Amino acid sequence: MSSKKPVIVYGANGFSGRLVVEFLREYNLPFIAAGRSRARIEDVMSRVPGIETANYEVAETGGSVEELTKLFTGAKVVCNTVGPFLYNGPRVVEACLKAGCHYIDIGGEQAWHRNAAENWGDKFAQKGLLLAPGMAYMSAASDIAVRLCLETEGIDTVEIISMFKGMPTFGSTQTIFAAIPTDAYYLEQNEYKPWARATAHEAIVPGQALTQLVLPWGGFPHPVWYKDHPQIANVKTLGGLLDRGIMEKVLATEKHFEENIRPLPKAEQEKVLAEMASSVQAGTPPRENSRVNRTIDVVYARGSMTSVQCTMVGNCTYRQTGLVQAYAAHVLVHGSPRTVGYASPCAALGHRDLLRTLENFGLSRAKVTS
Ligand SMILES: NC(=O)c1ccc[n+]([C@@H]2O[C@H](COP(=O)([O-])OP(=O)(O)OC[C@H]3O[C@@H](n4cnc5c(N)ncnc54)[C@H](OP(=O)(O)O)[C@@H]3O)[C@@H](O)[C@H]2O)c1
Repeated sequence: MSSKKPVIVYGANGFSGRLVVEFLREYNLPFIAAGRSRARIEDVMSRVPGIETANYEVAETGGSVEELTKLFTGAKVVCNTVGPFLYNGPRVVEACLKAGCHYIDIGGEQAWHRNAAENWGDKFAQKGLLLAPGMAYMSAASDIAVRLCLETEGIDTVEIISMFKGMPTFGSTQTIFAAIPTDAYYLEQNEYKPWARATAHEAIVPGQALTQLVLPWGGFPHPVWYKDHPQIANVKTLGGLLDRGIMEKVLATEKHFEENIRPLPKAEQEKVLAEMASSVQAGTPPRENSRVNRTIDVVYARGSMTSVQCTMVGNCTYRQTGLVQAYAAHVLVHGSPRTVGYASPCAALGHRDLLRTLENFGLSRAKVTS
């Protein structure tokens, strides 16, 4: 029997990593809080309320595949919170596969999901391991809503709106900017179709008097999750922040990118985007507040003679993310996922179980209407 703690949180000192750790404590799961700076991890951990009752240790790692493989070996699951996952995901996934661990992360970038599904999914499946990027608020909540709609017979088309209120963190802002150059796709008759670049849309969000400005925002994971789904053929996801002013600025940034930055070499593009992201958010926002930080995910679902709508009304994007990660780790440590290889949160954990978990912690609730 391995003496290694069963869960590794990579990026434990980040805004999201810290929340994963808080919920791992709630599940009484022993874990290693890992990252590239022992001092930064110890500083953050010392400020987690009640952490003295958690069973954990701190590990500093250089982050190469070899170092990560050594760190992960003997553990059961790695919770990766180090984004942008487009840049940082591959080395962690490779180390997980070598170490024989389940991999979950909180990345919603569609290009990262396509990479994971196409290059790593079968390798994880062959080893009986789960590979689940996107085990986070965005887009687990809307994955639940889609699955609730699928309980109505004949549904084959889903339009998804995913929105939250609040200021994205440093890591989230870097990731939003890193996704700008990537190709975003929706699904039409199970084929990927490209979204028009730098184009916003108006969305009708239930319970709101004014329409919201939404973007494909890199495409979201759903088209990748449902690409080969036996029931779903058409998927479009749009989303963003519940703040028209910010979304207008995001749209202006996308247009600026197309006109002035896309012609630059790729490495230069990444550098300029990272600098732009740092000028928007260089620090850490305050801890979330359920009266301020609200989420809404809506799925409008159609079949040829039927329609159904599911709305997930919730709060605290980052807290939902911490909980979803910890619940997934709990299932993976004490039991087995419902499937292996590349999978969505609900395919791996079951949509009703995941919904109950979010409800039990007062973070989200579903409403289905036909
Ligand atoms: N899908 C969702 O719903 C959802 C929700 C929350 C977050 N996210 C995503 O999760 C990611 C993290 O977000 P966050 O809010 O936690 O950001 P954050 O507060 O900036 O934390 C980022 C963490 O990653 C570490 N890190 C960054 N670059 C690294 C590198 N090259 N090597 C090793 N460690 C590195 C940081 O460590 P240092 O302190 O050492 O820099 C820190 O621990 C972002 O990509 C964000 O978009 C997604």
